Amino acid sequence: MSQTIYNEIGGRDAVEAVVDDFYDQVLDDEQLLPYFEDTDMSELRAHQVQFISAVTGGPVEYTGEEMRAAHDHLDIAEEDFDTVGRYLQTALEENGVDEEDVEAIMAEVVALKEPVLGR
Ligand code: HEM
Repeated sequence: MSQTIYNEIGGRDAVEAVVDDFYDQVLDDEQLLPYFEDTDMSELRAHQVQFISAVTGGPVEYTGEEMRAAHDHLDIAEEDFDTVGRYLQTALEENGVDEEDVEAIMAEVVALKEPVLGR
């Protein structure tokens, strides 16, 4: 079996640490906070852990909504998408994910830009 990014970065514990650091940064940003006002953050963190695990090849099924449907009502500005992407990148780097894996994960994120922005 070939090595997955999920295993390479340290599995479930690593993904949980990344997601925690990621949302800490997001919720610390006044410009982003309003998007999350009506959101159950423990549910969102759990879905984000599943989502990142699934895209990195982990043995986890993502049970949340499809990306366009999940973000449609939020009317997200492109600038804010870019900021969120930077926070995810920082969270990955700060948790010791190596550069090649960060690049692979960020390529997946950039590929979701249009559906997340509702285009
Ligand atoms: C590619 C980038 C992104 C990914 C992979 C992503 C992933 C997700 C996932 C997996 C969910 C959970 C859906 C569910 O629970 O059914 C979600 C929900 C959400 N996302 Fe994102 N997201 C991204 C970008 C953004 C951006 C840029 C913002 C805001 C600036 C944002 C704000 C939210 C909010 C507020 C929710 C919760 C919606 C609700 O409570 O109804 N997301 N996202």
